[in-house]
Amino acid sequence: PTPLFLDCDTGIDDSLALLYLLTRPDVEITGIASTAGNVATDTVVENNLAWLELCGRTDIPVHPGSPVPLVTPLRTAEDTHGPHGTGYARLATAVTAPSPVDAAHAWCRAASTHADRLVGLAIGPLTNLALALRLDPDLPTRLDRLVIMGGAFGVPGNTTPVAEWNMVVDPEAAAEVFAAFDRPDAPDPLVCGLDVTEQMSFTPAHAQRLADAAPGTRVAGYLTDALRFYFEFHDAQGEGYQAFVHDPLAAMVALDPDRASTTPAHLAVELEGALTRAMTVADRRGMLGAPNVRLVTGADVDAMLDELVDALARLGVA
Ligand code: BDR
Ligand code: CA
Repeated sequence: PTPLFLDCDTGIDDSLALLYLLTRPDVEITGIASTAGNVATDTVVENNLAWLELCGRTDIPVHPGSPVPLVTPLRTAEDTHGPHGTGYARLATAVTAPSPVDAAHAWCRAASTHADRLVGLAIGPLTNLALALRLDPDLPTRLDRLVIMGGAFGVPGNTTPVAEWNMVVDPEAAAEVFAAFDRPDAPDPLVCGLDVTEQMSFTPAHAQRLADAAPGTRVAGYLTDALRFYFEFHDAQGEGYQAFVHDPLAAMVALDPDRASTTPAHLAVELEGALTRAMTVADRRGMLGAPNVRLVTGADVDAMLDELVDALARLGVA
C-alpha cells in the first residue's frame, strides 16, 4: 500500500477525508498530524483518536501539533464546524493516548522512513509542515508527492474577501511551505483551492443515501449529525442547504492524481497587505519565478461525491 501521512484540523470535512482514507485498502496511513485550525489542537487530537477508535484503527498514531500558528494568534471556526469540530455529533471520547512524538517530528520521521514513497496530505493550516521543514529543510526531496487543500484561485476567499481559511489561519506557515518546495529536486505540491473544492457539494440527498445504506450504524449516525450542522452553516452563508467538502477532494487527488487536471504555477502567499494578507497569488506566466506547485484546476467531482458516499456507507460501524 501507498504510505500516506495526513495533517488535518478535524473538522467536519477533515473527518470525511480521514474516514474515506480508512476505506482505501491500498493506503497505509502512517500517522496523523493534528493542527490547530477549525478547532484547537487538543480537540483535533481528540477527534482524530475518536474516529480511529470507532473504526478499530488505533494502530495509527495521532501526533499533537503546535497549539498556535507560527506568528499570528490562533483563530478557530466553531461557527463552521461546531463546538467540538464535529457539528451536532458528540463522538465517544477515545481512551487511546496520542503519540508522544509531536507532529513536526512525525512529518520528518515519516518522510525518512518512507523516503521517495511517502504521500503527504495537508488539509488544514500548514503550521506543522512548516515546523517540520525548519527541522529538515530537505524533507521536500523525500516525498513522492504532497497534496494541499488551500488557497483560492480566481474566486473569492471564504474567510476574507480574497483568502481561504487554511491560508488565513497561518499565512507565514503557508509561505514557508511553498518557498521550501521551490527547488528543482522536490515534487511540486498539488494545490486544491476553493475554485475546485467548492464544486464538491455534499447535499442532503448524499447524506440520505449514506443513512439509508448504513442504517443505525454509529459512523452514519455521527456523520448525519455532523453534516446537518455543516448544511445549516452553508445555508446561513447564503450558499444553500448543502456543504462544500473540500478535504475529501484533496484526499482523493492525493491517492489518484490523474483524476485532477492541473496547471503549473508559481505560488506565493501575501503576508503584508492590510486587505490581502493570506491571499494566494498564483503566477502562471513566470513573472515571479519558475513553477513551484501544480494548481488543481478541475476534477470529476460528481464521481468523487458518489465514491465518497459509497465508501462512508461501507465504513458503517455497528
Ligand atoms: C478548509 O477550511 C476548513 O474549514 C476546511 O476543513 C477546509 O480544510 C476550506 O477552506
Ligand atoms: Ca481542514
